[in-house]
Amino acid sequence: MKKYTLLAALCLVSLLFIQAGINLNQPDNYAAQTVPNYINQDNTPPFNMLGDKGATLGRVLFYDKNLSLTGTVACASCHKQEFGFGDTAQLSDGHTGGKTGRHSMRLINSRFAQEVRFFWDERATSLEDQTTRPIQDHIEMGYSGSNGDPDLDSLMKKMATLPYYPALFTYVFGDATITETRMQQALAQFVRSIQSFDSKYDAGRAQVNTDADFFPNFSTAENAGKAIFLAPPNQGGAGCQGCHRAPEFDIAPNTQNNGVIHVAGTVDDVDLTNTRSPSLRDLFNPQGQLNGPLMHNGEFSTIEEVIEHYNSVPNDVRNTNLDPRLRGPGGVGTQQLNLGPNQKAFLAAFLKTLSGNNVYTDPKWSDPFEPDGSLNLSLVGLDKFETAKTPATQVYPNPFSQNLNIHNEAGIRSYRLLNMDGKLIQESTLAVSMDQTIFCTNLRPGIYWLILELGDGRKETIKILNAELLR
Ligand code: HEC
Ligand code: HEC
Repeated sequence: MKKYTLLAALCLVSLLFIQAGINLNQPDNYAAQTVPNYINQDNTPPFNMLGDKGATLGRVLFYDKNLSLTGTVACASCHKQEFGFGDTAQLSDGHTGGKTGRHSMRLINSRFAQEVRFFWDERATSLEDQTTRPIQDHIEMGYSGSNGDPDLDSLMKKMATLPYYPALFTYVFGDATITETRMQQALAQFVRSIQSFDSKYDAGRAQVNTDADFFPNFSTAENAGKAIFLAPPNQGGAGCQGCHRAPEFDIAPNTQNNGVIHVAGTVDDVDLTNTRSPSLRDLFNPQGQLNGPLMHNGEFSTIEEVIEHYNSVPNDVRNTNLDPRLRGPGGVGTQQLNLGPNQKAFLAAFLKTLSGNNVYTDPKWSDPFEPDGSLNLSLVGLDKFETAKTPATQVYPNPFSQNLNIHNEAGIRSYRLLNMDGKLIQESTLAVSMDQTIFCTNLRPGIYWLILELGDGRKETIKILNAELLR
């Protein structure tokens, strides 16, 4: 019994060890992940190619609650890895507890889609454009610049004073300047890196030439469900493929609404603008449970309700934007598929084959922050650095621009100032309990390391920022 407890504890410790912190010398592999050869769509723009460094910064931004005004909400609060980067809540909580207007979207395989516009109503013209909108949303993260709230500029100023961003922006972009464009690029790289291709569907698809082929690894029900998904309604199918196109299961770019028009949280308001769906991959988790309610309003909490919706699309006179593919024959009325109970069950069985495993647990997409909110970054030559625990008065100001002061109450014996790459710039011993000013007028802006040797021989490394550029 005791042995197992110890073992469990050890596993937990090693798990924490692997997950926490980021080794900047060996960033995780985001850019060179394996993509199956049958995947054709890719919306990566040439001006923001996926890179390991950029995605690493994106990961930090994605999990950082400091990006919300109240410090309570990060992107990851509504886009949770364990739920396919979606949310189980119908509407998610914003930074002061207000609810989002629509249901959060899973962020699986956002990259592998022809459609370049994002959000249910496609109001963002690119993923880059999308990523800083939640930060500036009054309800979601709060840096809206309206209603008396500060704007994105003030967030960027705050970020420059956090211990890790100057270092990380320098690591990715070569200098510590924080701009909205750079934030967008890094966040979009991280989101595009989130891929899921280890599903039962992929294992079958890799063995055949087309989606229509019999998948050797599928059950009879799953193969039958696949045929129903692919075939148009007038050929005995359900026509799903017309809009959610295998093998990416991305939404066809010219789609109009699908007849789900009710605004969440209202009695009878309609919203005809929702014409986009995330990939139909990973609707379910590996255990077969839905990753959250479905559709822009989270109206359906089972896949059976979804299938029933398409089986008999509601005919609402207010819906002037229903996709013509969901009309009845000759454009009259709405689609009535008349699927039998078995056919519905087959379709559900097929949709369950679209879930992967790795994306739910891979540490490279997990929270890099420590439980106390600090972030450990390690970089060549310096095994670890932290600024959070250093009393602010000891070395000030940080960021600095011309002179840096060391307040020597702690019995510091000497200091060494290194540049970002670990090259020595200057060093000196300190007189006991005498404050020291380091003159740095000719230093280039960027990240430096200050290594203090304490009286007891311990060394403390502090990351400091020459912020000439930021002023
Ligand atoms: C308070 C909850 C919340 C937070 C915080 C949040 N999101 Fe979202 N996200 C949503 C909701 C809700 C939607 C759908 C909104 C809509 O379509 O109107 C969405 C949509 C998206 C989409 C569009 C996906 C698609 O397929 O079109 C992306 C990408 C995204 N969020 C990324 C982010 C990033 C990056 C951040 C952090 C900067 C973030 N989100 C913060 C709730 C949130
Ligand atoms: C005419 C195009 C079209 C067809 C055909 C279609 N869909 Fe959709 N589907 C959409 C649109 C648009 C949305 C997003 C609508 C919304 O949320 O308001 C959507 C959303 C969904 C969702 C919810 C996704 C999520 O993340 O919440 C599921 C599941 C789904 N469709 C399954 C199917 C199945 C199964 C079929 C075949 C029976 C099908 N769809 C046929 C356009 C279509």
